[in-house]
Amino acid sequence: MADISQNRLVCVVAMATNHVIGDGEDLIWHLPGDLRRVKQLTMGCPLIMGRKTYQSIGRPLPGRLNIVLTRNAGFSAEGIVAVTSFEAAIARAEQWLEEQNSQTDVPERRIILFGGGEIYRIGLDCCDAIEATIVEDASHDGVRFPQIDNAAWHDELLEAIPASDSHPAFSYHRLTRIAQPAMSLAERAQST
Ligand SMILES: NC(=O)c1ccc[n+]([C@@H]2O[C@H](COP(=O)([O-])OP(=O)(O)OC[C@H]3O[C@@H](n4cnc5c(N)ncnc54)[C@H](OP(=O)(O)O)[C@@H]3O)[C@@H](O)[C@H]2O)c1
Repeated sequence: MADISQNRLVCVVAMATNHVIGDGEDLIWHLPGDLRRVKQLTMGCPLIMGRKTYQSIGRPLPGRLNIVLTRNAGFSAEGIVAVTSFEAAIARAEQWLEEQNSQTDVPERRIILFGGGEIYRIGLDCCDAIEATIVEDASHDGVRFPQIDNAAWHDELLEAIPASDSHPAFSYHRLTRIAQPAMSLAERAQST
């Protein structure tokens, strides 16, 4: 039996400099390469997303376990696992990784905090890393990513893409925690 504390919770997000992540229905920008990057970061991993984000995508993302948080115990859709608490989402993700690990030697066991705003607010305290696309555009309002304590994170700039006629400038960042997460996944799973 693997130690569940070996699993890392990684947040994947695209946000504006004012932390806006979407208009409540959909994403705001279509950034070249960003969806490919999200696919690379998430393939083979369990995703934890809110019901609104799931419905804005409109289908389960292939090659990943799609865990959808909803308070509606009757919610179901083909190709997803619906759960009614964040702790149940973590437990389901851990179980799936355990099953995958028994079949293949998974090099890194990552659970992805996939959004949207409500789900980031619930899970960010447990995250070990944030893979962020930062968009140089503060002209929109909408759903926001929570404020983070910059002193608690090491921010590595991976790549900067200049603006073009079709999109604002944006950059890829990897934020890693300087200290341990406020609450570990194991503690979170045990709090049910
Ligand atoms: N830019 C990005 O990287 C990114 C990523 C993801 C999403 N988004 C955007 O974010 C927006 C959606 O975000 P959002 O904050 O409005 O919605 P959301 O976080 O996607 O989903 C909210 C829903 O999650 C469920 N939920 C929340 N807390 C729960 C809890 N404690 N227990 C059980 N279920 C819970 C509820 O579903 P029920 O109402 O069914 O109970 C709630 O309505 C969209 O615009 C989307 O495009 C952006």
